[in-house]
Amino acid sequence: MKKVGIIGVGKCLPKKVLTNADLAKMVDTSDEWIITRTGIKERRLVAKNEATSDLAAGAAKMALENACLEPVDIDLIIVATVTPDMSFPSAACFLQNSIGAKNAVCFDVSAACAGFVYAISIAQQFITSGAYKNALVVGAEVLSGVTDWKDRNTCVLFGDGAGAVVLSEVKSGGILSIYLGSDGSKADLLKISAGGSRHPASHETVDNRLHYIKMQGNELFKIAVTTMSHAAQTVLKNAGLECKDVDLVIPHQANLRIIMTMAKKLGLSMEKVYLNIERYGNMSSASTAVALCEAVNEGRVKRGDIILLDTFGAGLVWGACVIKW
Ligand code: UT7
Repeated sequence: MKKVGIIGVGKCLPKKVLTNADLAKMVDTSDEWIITRTGIKERRLVAKNEATSDLAAGAAKMALENACLEPVDIDLIIVATVTPDMSFPSAACFLQNSIGAKNAVCFDVSAACAGFVYAISIAQQFITSGAYKNALVVGAEVLSGVTDWKDRNTCVLFGDGAGAVVLSEVKSGGILSIYLGSDGSKADLLKISAGGSRHPASHETVDNRLHYIKMQGNELFKIAVTTMSHAAQTVLKNAGLECKDVDLVIPHQANLRIIMTMAKKLGLSMEKVYLNIERYGNMSSASTAVALCEAVNEGRVKRGDIILLDTFGAGLVWGACVIKW
């Protein structure tokens, strides 16, 4: 069977920084509450004219350069996002046009914070089957556009950004195992109610603030810890590995306390866990994508290392992936 690996990484973060102190001027919160309850110090926000595919294009260009490929070499583009530029066309099609990847087949994947791992899994199968050769997988979000800036329960958590990888056949290493899961019975815990076919946009939906993220954070917290721990154990077992074999865990960055509790449950030292939540908050599908890029660029990932991506989000959905670098 063909081995599929990551041959390039990239990221793009908008310039504007929103600090906890800035948020304390907008809602009844404090720097201290946000840091101790979430681990977040600041997040990035897009400018008025910036959309998801613009961030995706920045990350994609960096990943292509890193992979030493041209846009025309890409034959598959998958963008994982819950905040595409518009309902349709897909963010992937806008991305294709802006980077000139005219030979690519393009579509989006909606799997919230697990979207990056879902998209990697799809790309891996297309490459393994021989259908496509070089896939560009991007996790990109503009969550600031669906955040209720009057709701202190959610507005302190989210940020904007994009991360990208190029996947291709590799001679050694690559993806060892992927584990995905979903539980639609808990869809109500994290959602944007309006703007789809259930509640099309109307004056009423806007007045009731139904186009913003609503979350039952406390309930999700417990499920996130259990699910991410289980996903890590399962994907490692499927790869014939144990937690002690992992060199670096790159978890979804929703809450530092979730990550620390999960690491403790797995018997993992926090030194083996990559964190960037402090700087960016929760960027949904972009969180693990950006974290992977930064971990590689900071020299935290070396050839032969075992890397574990571990994600969880709205759906509910989860996805973990073991890669030998
Ligand atoms: O990415 C997808 C998956 N997402 C997650 O897994 C998120 C999981 N959940 C969480 O990260 C946490 O539950 C939160 C960070 C969202 C909330 O932390 P918490 O420790 O679970 O707080 P809580 O919701 O239980 O609220 C505790 C208190 C409440 O006050 P009372 O009712 O005890 O008086 C809240 O009203 O904290 C209050 N609170 C705030 N206070 C200051 C909630 N948000 C804020 C705030 N500033 N921003």
